[in-house]
Amino acid sequence: MSSEIKTVGVLTSGGDAPGMNAAIRAVVRKSLNSGLKVKGIKKGYMGLLNEEIVDMEAHSVSDIIQRGGTILGTARCLEFKEEEVQARAAEICRKHGIDGLVVIGGDGSYRGAQALAKHGINTIGIPGTIDLDIACTDYTIGFDTAINTAMEAIDKVRDTSSSHERCSIIEVMGRNAGYIALWCGVACGAEDVLLPEKYDFNEQTLVNNIIANRKKGKTHHLIINAEGIGHSTSMARRIEAATGIETRATILGYMQRGGSPTCKDRYYASIMGAYAADILAAGKTMRAVCYRNGEFVDYDIDEALAMEKTINPYQYEVSRLLSRNESV
Ligand code: ADP
Ligand code: F6P
Repeated sequence: MSSEIKTVGVLTSGGDAPGMNAAIRAVVRKSLNSGLKVKGIKKGYMGLLNEEIVDMEAHSVSDIIQRGGTILGTARCLEFKEEEVQARAAEICRKHGIDGLVVIGGDGSYRGAQALAKHGINTIGIPGTIDLDIACTDYTIGFDTAINTAMEAIDKVRDTSSSHERCSIIEVMGRNAGYIALWCGVACGAEDVLLPEKYDFNEQTLVNNIIANRKKGKTHHLIINAEGIGHSTSMARRIEAATGIETRATILGYMQRGGSPTCKDRYYASIMGAYAADILAAGKTMRAVCYRNGEFVDYDIDEALAMEKTINPYQYEVSRLLSRNESV
């Protein structure tokens, strides 16, 4: 069921992502432009339950488009999975006059939006996560900044790795998804890329590859390890013992989530934020804003959450092939 709304709430939830501020700015300014009131909800669903709600004006979002993080703050709020808590949150929205809510976050956050919609609050999800792991959309806000931050860091590790003729295992974020690892692996010419979706945990293959590359004269060997596989430090110890080649692990960690968003993240966030404000103003509810096949579109959140996403097999194969410096 959908109905027209008068006051829009906006919150960010789950892990922060560069570009969330640009999305908040777009939601606020486009909604105000449509004659709606806007309220900012601090610290995700936790802040909603604690009624940390502030009025937003056009100037509330000045000077934020270039800033990383989220001016509203974010949180993980596990109790939001409980039906009784979701019903209370919907009541809090009604108490504050919030009849439409834009949730910027990952698929966990979409589940919260789905629940609120079922309790009568019109909700729209915007994909905000560095992980690129939301199936309904080809793009998630924060991914571009995160991969560029990781790429620059990996290039630096490569310099010192070559100088010392070491093997380097570099762990990138992505929870259970390997997109950051795949993109950085290709962009940095890594010799091995370990993705949760593909890795067979056969370390002997890695060891053989490292030894073969060293025999061919390669001075470094970069292994990009996705967070979902983990254990980079102990893996480095085992690989060093098996190959006799000094091996170091670098875990890039939270630096990947910070920093000023790239132009691409600011652009997608701005268009998605405006699009969310428009479909909310038009009375739509329980929709996920997506970028798919070159267009900004929206899907039913139930449908969006039922979709599956897998690593493209061709792209994975190419990532493996390009790192081999041999003719056949
Ligand atoms: P992301 O949104 O980036 O996937 P999480 O999975 O941590 O991050 O989810 C963010 C928040 O969304 C959670 O802390 C919780 O408040 C809410 N959430 C997650 N899963 C559910 C669910 N099944 N039902 C309701 N709310 C949920
Ligand atoms: O979803 C974004 C992300 O950075 C993942 O890549 C990572 O697994 C997770 O969040 C870390 O979450 P937290 O901030 O709770 O440690």
